Amino acid sequence: MKDTIDQVRKQINDFVIDSSLSLEAFRIQFLGSKGVMKELYSLLKLVPNDEKRIIGLLLNDLRSEVEAKIELEKQNFLQLGVLDKSIDLTKSGEDAAIGSHHPLTLVKREIISIFSRIGFTISEGPEIEDDWHNFSALNFPEEHPARDMQDTFFIEKGEKEMALRTHTSSVQVRVMENSKPPIRTISPGRVYRNEAISARAHCFFHQLEGLFIDKNVSFADLKQTLLFFAREMFGEKAQIRLRPSYFPFTEPSAEVDVSCTLCNSNGCNVCKYSGWLEILGCGMVDPSVLEASGIDSKIYSGFAFGMGIERIAQLKYRVTDLRLYSENDIRFLNQFKAVI
Ligand code: DAH
Repeated sequence: MKDTIDQVRKQINDFVIDSSLSLEAFRIQFLGSKGVMKELYSLLKLVPNDEKRIIGLLLNDLRSEVEAKIELEKQNFLQLGVLDKSIDLTKSGEDAAIGSHHPLTLVKREIISIFSRIGFTISEGPEIEDDWHNFSALNFPEEHPARDMQDTFFIEKGEKEMALRTHTSSVQVRVMENSKPPIRTISPGRVYRNEAISARAHCFFHQLEGLFIDKNVSFADLKQTLLFFAREMFGEKAQIRLRPSYFPFTEPSAEVDVSCTLCNSNGCNVCKYSGWLEILGCGMVDPSVLEASGIDSKIYSGFAFGMGIERIAQLKYRVTDLRLYSENDIRFLNQFKAVI
């Protein structure tokens, strides 16, 4: 029996524990319910009576050795801070897979940064809007086609008929209702229109609205602000041109083109060989729009503008199909990794 005990002691000492798995295997092999110690104790009944005491003490010692070895290895693991000695803590880590910002996020941030440099704050409004903020307060006549079912997604919300906002101009109204001039704010956000999805149109897209209201604001201020924006966004050689246009909420109104940065205005298929690219709509806020939102149009005047963020991103990154922005194609999105 003593020889058996010595053999087992050798096995215990030789057992290599180098991971949490082998520690557990060691415990099971020697202390488990069908383990070596259990078996040794069961042999005790075969030992002659006068040796029982001494062999019993030897077995108790052996069990203590097993327990001590387990305890020691546990402490070792704790000190290393790992449960596996085969892990090399000095090895350098693997690179984490870092995603990229969406191109619309990049462009939105850039536009925000440009306007914040000249004192514009950011305001936001709800995407589910009522008729007042999306249309009526902006001077859209009752029979205006933009209210038509074909353009607008209408929603029943309790008693009230609501709509998904068709433009961020609705936020202008909310800002004017809730704050006093001077107002200098931009409002980026998602808008919705009931359009068939194609390369050139989508049922949702993003706009950024600008609003500037103070005493003595003139069309020259509008033009200068937009020229500043165009040069910051498209480079210092960028030129702008304003074409007369119509929007119910501005008078006079204009559409703004920027000189084509892709071909240096020499003519290409993006600018349709005109040398100019349309980027936004703008105008002086119609006095009746100021009044509808509680601003005295005899004291204050202002300008507004609205641009499509997809459109600016298209010009900046030469994206030719609007659908790419919302398809989550990783091959498209990965191309923006380098841009922070
Ligand atoms: N809301 C217009 C649209 O969705 C864009 C726009 C034009 C906004 C002129 C303005 C503006 O603030 O002054 O097409």
